[in-house]
Amino acid sequence: MKTIIEPFRIKSVEPIHMTTPEERRSKLAAAHYNLFSLASEDVIIDLLTDSGTGAMSSNQWAALMRGDESYAGSPSFFRFESAVQALMPFKFIIPTHQGRAAEAILMSILGGSGRMIPSNTHFDTTRGNIEASGATAHDLNIAEGHDPSLDHPFKGNMDLIAFEQFMDANSQNVPAIMLTITNNAGGGQPVSLENIRAVSAIARACKKPFIIDGCRFAENAMFIKRREPGQQNRSIPDIVRDCFACADGMTMSAKKDAFGNIGGWLALNDPYLADQARIKLIQTEGFPTYGGLAGRDLDALAQGLSEIVDENYLNYRIRTNEYIIERLDAMGIPVVKPAGGHAVFIDAKAWLKHIPPLHYPGQALACKLYEIAGIRACEIGSVMFGQQPDDSEKPAAMELVRLAIPRRTYTQSHADYIIEAFEILRAEASSLRGFSIVRQPRMMRHFTCQFEPRVRTH
Ligand code: F0G
Repeated sequence: MKTIIEPFRIKSVEPIHMTTPEERRSKLAAAHYNLFSLASEDVIIDLLTDSGTGAMSSNQWAALMRGDESYAGSPSFFRFESAVQALMPFKFIIPTHQGRAAEAILMSILGGSGRMIPSNTHFDTTRGNIEASGATAHDLNIAEGHDPSLDHPFKGNMDLIAFEQFMDANSQNVPAIMLTITNNAGGGQPVSLENIRAVSAIARACKKPFIIDGCRFAENAMFIKRREPGQQNRSIPDIVRDCFACADGMTMSAKKDAFGNIGGWLALNDPYLADQARIKLIQTEGFPTYGGLAGRDLDALAQGLSEIVDENYLNYRIRTNEYIIERLDAMGIPVVKPAGGHAVFIDAKAWLKHIPPLHYPGQALACKLYEIAGIRACEIGSVMFGQQPDDSEKPAAMELVRLAIPRRTYTQSHADYIIEAFEILRAEASSLRGFSIVRQPRMMRHFTCQFEPRVRTH
């Protein structure tokens, strides 16, 4: 069959509250044009994030009932630990309430003033935790990863030459090497197994721990299977094990590729580092057999991990993005290519050339999309990255809008609705106006800042 269907039936539904464009215009104004300030009930299709927003399976709901809430030594923890170790062969698995808690614990051990941590691209919370420790975060993604329209199978790869040069110059200050799979900030683009192995070899030659941020490991493995020579006949769990066998540890947001609504973990092989991490865990998250989670959450994650590596699911997952991207591309809308794992990214800079970066073309696009169709997307451009520590402003490298697709939540007719919304948006694109920021906090402004539409100047 050519048609790739949603590989599930729907047993329980959540109603969507429908709104009119007039209602949305007034909600948007009341939210000061910041989509984070909307009530989610006023959103028809919510593509703000794929984190914690997926649908759990009937077996995950059943697993919740198995959850054992003992403070210490719960069987839920041991089921969770063995589900993680079946895919990621690390010695010590330390649960946390979400990914950034694992990062904070890791950086409390490895970070510190003067230290430098390279990666393909650090996610914002990883960068935030590195910088909060006094260390610096360094992104060494291949150049192809910064060209939205360029087709390349593994745009998330580390630039190995830049990485070796970086290590030659700074090795004594580097406490660990990281790699984000898939590269979220760069468009959900995958990293090849060959690149993971090469980064690992350099890390081992330099005797540095190699830590994978594995949030979207299953999507990354599916891309390896589809796109990397020699990997086509291998199972997803085998590819996943190969990826993590190269590393000395991982951080994980289980809100992504473990089908959790909440959860995360830190995994390590080094007993000394693991001991230090557990001490910090007890101080900040909880005892090492629950780490800030309920026993039932651990059981839901154990079950989720067995479901996420299903190829039928991963085929449908990646096909959803390809389907939307192919149609937007055919309409002439600039999109990040090829399709990434968890989201569709629109290149607002290339599309809305009449809006300068510091008038926030991505924000203009995201607001119009909400007004037209009630779709909530997220600006990933100068609103998110433009604010400087001295409160000045600098345009970001790219002006993207991310449509993050929650896992197993929406159907193909929802995808068709999204595509239709872009048809309407295309007809109005040249009349879109930019925004100015009228109120903002000192950092991470995109969550809470307030906007005003600009008056047309041409
Ligand atoms: N690493 C990556 C690559 C991520 O995408 C995220 C979260 C984290 C770490 C932090 O995990 O949210 O569980 O604390 N990304 C979400 C997003 C928030 O919308 O992309 P967390």
